[in-house]
Amino acid sequence: MTVVNGYEQSDAEKKLNILNLPSLADEAKKIIPTGGYGYIVGGSEDEWTLAENTKAFNHAQIVPKALSNIDSPDLSTNFLGIDLKTPIMMAPTAAQGLAHSQGEKDTARGGVAAVGGLMAQSTYSSTSIADTAAAGNGAPQLFQLYMSKDWDFNKSLLDEAKKAGVKGIILTVDATVDGYREEDIINNFQFPIPMPNLEKYSAGDGKGKGIGEIYASAAQKISEDDVRRIAEYTDLPVIVKGVQSPEDALRAIGAGAAAIYVSNHGGRQLNGGPASFDVLPAIAKAVNKRVPIIFDSGVRRGSHAFKALAAGADLVAFGRPVIYGLALGGAEGVQSVFEQIDHELEIIMQLAGTKTIADVKHAPLTHFNYAD
Ligand SMILES: Cc1cc2nc3c(=O)[nH]c(=O)nc-3n(C[C@H](O)[C@H](O)[C@H](O)COP(=O)(O)O)c2cc1C
Repeated sequence: MTVVNGYEQSDAEKKLNILNLPSLADEAKKIIPTGGYGYIVGGSEDEWTLAENTKAFNHAQIVPKALSNIDSPDLSTNFLGIDLKTPIMMAPTAAQGLAHSQGEKDTARGGVAAVGGLMAQSTYSSTSIADTAAAGNGAPQLFQLYMSKDWDFNKSLLDEAKKAGVKGIILTVDATVDGYREEDIINNFQFPIPMPNLEKYSAGDGKGKGIGEIYASAAQKISEDDVRRIAEYTDLPVIVKGVQSPEDALRAIGAGAAAIYVSNHGGRQLNGGPASFDVLPAIAKAVNKRVPIIFDSGVRRGSHAFKALAAGADLVAFGRPVIYGLALGGAEGVQSVFEQIDHELEIIMQLAGTKTIADVKHAPLTHFNYAD
């Protein structure tokens, strides 16, 4: 264990024997300190949207397909010209040092380098952009930007990300104000660990600051002009994250987005909005394959990933289960989490008669109405 400012970080480095991803939360709760765990697990208000995110996968069913003469499904795919061994991606999640002393470095090593997936770094990472990129050892990464009101600050982060070799910028647009998260209020949660990117805010190094104070430094107003501005400045693909309606998807594409990221932030922002999976088909229809789509929020099973791909996603991301795997086993724990969901997805692909991810994207879903 490593202790930073009185906060106890796990140093575990081991493979995990995983039955399923939902079971990881209770295990991780035993080793992540209360405030950190509450920040990771929590959603906003009464967490209705958080709960519906996973339940919504029951609103569609996979059509079993036998006699399809296939074996050994192939998970490899391509996103914006990047070759990947799996369509499962690590969502950008802040402050992974809350779960493990190596933080994002271990996630990059385990999540990307080990399984050939795509890693996204958060602006609020607990390791620097360069260090996280180096840990990935050349494996592809994206950088997620929370826009500051200070454009020079944004430019400095974008410069650093570009220098580190990231393949694209995720602009998160659904967090112009912090969701009302009761767990953090109950725990009086303050980030106990340093966050190097925030050192650049004139206010200090982010350490010991409340979440509200940090968000107060971020841009509260984000428009289509910001998408254009970032694309022009970096010359990298800009992926707009936090889209939950066809209208926003079209606005983002009109502003030059290279991809759309359908997400409700894992139920941490606008409580009372629909489950992310429920809005995916209408967004995919509006996007009409002009740009690729990343999907997240509530994905816990191979069958969830399959349904999201069949409903229009090109990549499927998840957040919390990876952080739990990080706490329990460091880089190897993260690798185990990715291997588990890949394994489940392979089984579903075989039983649905889909050999490739392209086949999954064409697979039919049915919509019988079962009671939850
Ligand atoms: C602890 C935590 C921190 C997060 N930090 C960020 C962040 O810094 N930037 C961002 O765009 N999304 C952030 N998210 C949202 C994730 O990118 C993703 O949308 C969400 O985790 C998906 O839901 P899931 O955890 O149910 O898989 C965070 C989520 C969690 C759980």
